[in-house]
Amino acid sequence: MSAPTPIGVFDSGHGGLTILAALQQRLPDEHFLYLGDHAAAPYGERTPEEIYARTQAAVELLFALGCRLVVLACNTAAAVAMRRLQQGWLARTHPKRRVLGVLAPMVEALSGRAWTGGQPLPWHRQTARSVAVFATRRTVESGAYPREVAARAPSVLVDQEPCPGLAGAIERDLAEEALADMVRDAVERLLARHPSEPPEAAVLGCTHYPLVAAHFAASLPTGVRLLSQPDVVADSLERYLARHPRFRGGLGETRFFSTGDSARVSRLAGRFLGRPVRFSEVP
Ligand code: DGL
Repeated sequence: MSAPTPIGVFDSGHGGLTILAALQQRLPDEHFLYLGDHAAAPYGERTPEEIYARTQAAVELLFALGCRLVVLACNTAAAVAMRRLQQGWLARTHPKRRVLGVLAPMVEALSGRAWTGGQPLPWHRQTARSVAVFATRRTVESGAYPREVAARAPSVLVDQEPCPGLAGAIERDLAEEALADMVRDAVERLLARHPSEPPEAAVLGCTHYPLVAAHFAASLPTGVRLLSQPDVVADSLERYLARHPRFRGGLGETRFFSTGDSARVSRLAGRFLGRPVRFSEVP
């Protein structure tokens, strides 16, 4: 029997653990390898060139560790680096391997249309007509969410609001009141642009933000639906693996690597996954 092949999950830091938790729950028979680039986090304030270079290096490392499929569980990396990675480097150097992101499944959910080909998707019929996206500065500047949704569903209005410093503050475990203030400020800035009609739905377009989802829910007007990116990504990966069973890994043990101080990371990261987690330094 061949050795299990892990599915790689990558984020700038701990945020991707919110995605990993949903993947593990949905796909209990898969085995994952998580990599956090804690030495360089947060990505949201880095230049697009730095984000591209670090994301490529991380994917290369996950490939070297045996992954054939890597999920970029980081909106910033997916928004800034994904297209360039897929169309250039990946196709040239690893044509049999795949990199997926967290942005494409969310765009499919918002537009009701497939990322590739744009055909209607039967499982995403409940699209909101107006959506707020809260994300890092770089994700917002990339324009990826409004551009990709508009390309598939021009009638869906997407407005976005950067939350500078929020991912880093969550990662450092800043006091809840301070996090609540940062979230309230971002929500108020966005709502000020829509005084008479708030958006119908909101996306937390950064994988760190599920940890402060309660603050978003409390700050947004009643009735605004908060869409869960971890659930949407887990649905999408489940369907992808059903279509491409060659990327299924088989049973194994999930391992966690960090480019940062693994003892410190292990101490802080457990609450992102919902249970204690032990990181090792990258090999
Ligand atoms: N968690 C990442 C995201 O989804 C990045 C946050 C950061 O490193 O700034 O955007």
